[in-house]
Amino acid sequence: MSETTHAGNGISTEQAGVEQELVDTVLASFDKAEDPRLMEVMQALTRHLHNFLREVRLTEAEWNTGIDFLTAAGHITDDKRQEFVLLSDVLGASMQTIAMNNQAYKGATEATVFGPFFLEDAPEIPLGGDIAGAAAGQPCWVEGTVTDTSGNPVPGARIEVWEADEDGFYDVQYSDSRIAGRAHLFTAEDGSYAFWGLTPTPYPIPHDGPVGKMLKAVGRSPIRASHLHFMVTAEGLRPLVTHIFVEGDPQIEIGDSVFGVKNSLIKKFETQPVGTPTPDGRDVHSQSWARTRFDIVLAPGSDLR
Ligand code: BEZ
Ligand code: FE
Repeated sequence: MSETTHAGNGISTEQAGVEQELVDTVLASFDKAEDPRLMEVMQALTRHLHNFLREVRLTEAEWNTGIDFLTAAGHITDDKRQEFVLLSDVLGASMQTIAMNNQAYKGATEATVFGPFFLEDAPEIPLGGDIAGAAAGQPCWVEGTVTDTSGNPVPGARIEVWEADEDGFYDVQYSDSRIAGRAHLFTAEDGSYAFWGLTPTPYPIPHDGPVGKMLKAVGRSPIRASHLHFMVTAEGLRPLVTHIFVEGDPQIEIGDSVFGVKNSLIKKFETQPVGTPTPDGRDVHSQSWARTRFDIVLAPGSDLR
């Protein structure tokens, strides 16, 4: 079947025919793929890529710039830095994939972008424990429940939490091997949980590579709205990767560099005046502290993904 052409772009019908013939030949080259899904994906990629090339009438110099960009993204990528994920994030492709694969289900908590700073094997803390370690910032008491969409408590749900310190850096961005600002814990029999974290502050995504250069060239900021990451898993329920955002953070209005903000995930972080007793009697050494609540609702089974 013949594809849409861009003959309206001031090119001759003959030229448009030459270009379309190439598209059709490339599409046919995938016809023998044994995996039908692979065939569908590669043919759709081919159609959209060629439509893009023809829509913008890409020059050879621009094509070379694109290849240089991808080459630089490859060179800066290693087991600690993933420039291609950053690229997907700033193009909104990560959030679009998350949106398609975590469709709204009754009152289930919404998902958002995973980001590159999760670590397996973060330490376990008890309920009410502290995730901060050496990470500096205002102490923040975080509490809530994990339930299913019928309101039943989910005991033993695993909650992974991770966040940047007040200087905007995750532990893995320091050159020592500190583990700070991350932990996991399990919900109690009644589905409740609580821990001490840090009040989140805004920070830039890594922007010293080709993605940062691109953001600068198009006049976009690398700053993310202040957030605290959660990943929640429990047997028989849909895994949830999300964050909570800080109500009143101006960056929410300005725009999150990876399009991760959802209204339902914006929470009140209430700063307590110095001297206010803490929920568990912890001594915060005459600092102010904050508190927030995040009740998490998990959708049923992984079959919905
Ligand atoms: C983060 O929130 O940790 C993050 C998300 C996307 C890109 C970079 C960082
Ligand atoms: Fe983050």
